[in-house]
Amino acid sequence: MTDIHALKVELSSEIEAANDLQKLDEVRVSVLGKKGRITALMKTLGGMSPEERKTTGQALNVLKDEIAALIKSQEAALKKQEMEERLATETLDISLASRPERKGTIHPISQTIEELVTIFGAMGFKVAEGPDIEDDWHNFTALNFPPGHPAREMQDTFFLPEDPREEGEKAKKLLRTHTSSVQIRNMQETMKNASQDGGPPIKTICFGRTYRSDYDMTHTPMFHQMECLFVDKDVTMAHLKGCLTDFVRSFFNLDDLPVRFRPSFFPFVEPGAEVDIGYIKKPDGSIQLGKAKEGDEQKWMEILGSGMVHPNVLKNCGIDPETYQGFAFGTGIERLAMLKYGIPDLRTFFECDVRWLSHYGFDPLERPNSATGQ
Ligand code: DAH
Repeated sequence: MTDIHALKVELSSEIEAANDLQKLDEVRVSVLGKKGRITALMKTLGGMSPEERKTTGQALNVLKDEIAALIKSQEAALKKQEMEERLATETLDISLASRPERKGTIHPISQTIEELVTIFGAMGFKVAEGPDIEDDWHNFTALNFPPGHPAREMQDTFFLPEDPREEGEKAKKLLRTHTSSVQIRNMQETMKNASQDGGPPIKTICFGRTYRSDYDMTHTPMFHQMECLFVDKDVTMAHLKGCLTDFVRSFFNLDDLPVRFRPSFFPFVEPGAEVDIGYIKKPDGSIQLGKAKEGDEQKWMEILGSGMVHPNVLKNCGIDPETYQGFAFGTGIERLAMLKYGIPDLRTFFECDVRWLSHYGFDPLERPNSATGQ
């Protein structure tokens, strides 16, 4: 019995000392295996007296169970320890790099419109809108284009099928050839509400798509125009000149940009003027807006059409030309953008080429001028 007790102490410390699973298994085999120490002791039972066999047999069975339990718990402890070590040392990277984000840009047309809104907003103009599908009356007749007048053909109109619900010139639908038609709608709208609002002043700017059957480096069938209209009592050509000069100088960020008014004809204004801005041609052939310095030749380019609203146009909208006068002007937005941002070909504006957009477009968060209009 004492031997068995001593053996238990010895085996217990062997099991405890087995500090990995392999060593523990070696201990197990050496104790409980076919040739193991307890197995060997079991085999000695046969040579014992029945009395001795009974007590020793029992004691050996107890020892065997105890040792097996000890091995099992040591095994569990070692497995737990091994798992903890793995958890502490092994890492698994479950992150995945995000897809590169492509940032869009603001189209030069949108950027230019925002700059114009800022400039004219500061002068007290409101943004107005009108439909792209117009009728002959708003696009031509009300603007004092006489029927059959060659000026109607000047603009290479896209005509649409007649609208059976309307009559005469209002049934003749077309894609507006200019935003001047919005002037008519603004004036009509103002007069419709005149009894509540008292009529003019009208102080509007309008931006929108316009259409003409034309296509080359400087013409596309669809392009954008801006239209400005100011109607009030005592409006003169001086107001037109002041407003236009401030606008172009502010838009091109050039305080001394030369501005020239040249008499011209548009059916809806009298007098009418085309406005030119000054530039110089640099030795490499490129152009630079601004005043010519000594030795340079001052050159001029036309940028817009303007004039004093024709009395017939006021009358067509129900406004008395004896009481009210107005000025108006219209210009191409692409043309302004091309000049300001050095874009050579008009057609590229509408090709939706992302390379073009990332080159000429504007970072939405870092845009020039839009906050100040300067
Ligand atoms: N509508 C003219 C065009 O498309 C531009 C224009 C000229 C607009 C004179 C005006 C103006 O308001 O007064 O060519």
